[in-house]
Amino acid sequence: MERLTGVLGARVDAGDVRTLSNEALAELRALICEHEVVFLANQSLTALEQVEFSRRLGPAAESPFIEPSPDHPEVIKVLKEARDGNAFNFGGAWHSDFSFLPNPPSFTILLALDIPPYGGDTLWSSMTAAYNALNPAQKETYESLGGVHSARDAYSPKMQAIHSGLSSMNIVCDDSANEYEIHPLITTHPETLKKVLFYNRAYVRDIVGMSDEIEKLRLMEWLHLHTTDAKFGYRHKWTAGDLAIWDNRSTQHYALNDYSGFRRELHRSTVAGERPLP
Ligand code: SIN
Repeated sequence: MERLTGVLGARVDAGDVRTLSNEALAELRALICEHEVVFLANQSLTALEQVEFSRRLGPAAESPFIEPSPDHPEVIKVLKEARDGNAFNFGGAWHSDFSFLPNPPSFTILLALDIPPYGGDTLWSSMTAAYNALNPAQKETYESLGGVHSARDAYSPKMQAIHSGLSSMNIVCDDSANEYEIHPLITTHPETLKKVLFYNRAYVRDIVGMSDEIEKLRLMEWLHLHTTDAKFGYRHKWTAGDLAIWDNRSTQHYALNDYSGFRRELHRSTVAGERPLP
C-alpha cells in the first residue's frame, strides 16, 4: 500500500479483484474506509465481473436519472465520445454521489477503460480532513445544522438540455429531482466513526437551522471553498485498467472536462449505503 497524499488516497496492490479472498476483501474495505479513495492498477473486468465484485462490498445502490449500461443494469457507462466536444461531462461538478437520496451510496467503484491521452483527471477531496480543520466553535455550530440535498439543479427537467450533449449516455431528467432530503451537516461515518463535514455544492441547496438568508448563502459558499481546498485533495491521472473505489460517505469528487475531441469511458457501480447520521 502506498499513500498518495498526507490526507487521502492510496494505491493498493491486491492482485486481481475477481479472485480476492474474503480476508483480502475485508482488508481492502478497511483501506477504503481509512484512505477514502484507493486505486488498484491493471484490472480487467466485464460489467458482470464488476457487479460481482461490487456486490461483495454490499448490495447495489439505486442510480436515478441515469440509464444503465446495456451490459448490466447495475453499471453506468460514464462515457463522453470524441464527437461530443465540449459537452458537459458526467460528474463535472464537485459532488458526493446521489447525496440527495435518503440513503446515499456507501462506495463507488469506477473502472477506467478508455482514457484520453491527456486530461480527464478526477479530483477527490476528504470531508473528514475538512471537518478536522474546523475550529471548535465551528464544530459546535455546525453540529446543529442540516444540509438540504436535492438533485433539482442537476436532474430536474430544466437541466435536460445540459445532459443532451453526451451522445452515448442517456440521462433522463424528471420532476422527482425536485424532492429533497435533509442530512446532518456533520455526520459520523458508520464504519470508522470519524466525523465528516457532509457538504457538496452540487446537491446541497439550502441549510436548515439558520434563519439569516445572507449568512446562509455566505456559509454555503464558504463550505464549498473549504471542503474543496487543494490541501484536502488528490488528483488522479487515469490509466486504462485503473480501478478506483471511494468512500462516498467521506469524500466529494469532480471529473475534469479538459479533453475535448477525445473519448473517455469508465464503468461505474455503486454500493448501497445507510442514512447519514450525526
Ligand atoms: C462520477 O462522478 O462518478 C464520474 C467520475 C469520473 O468520471 O471521473
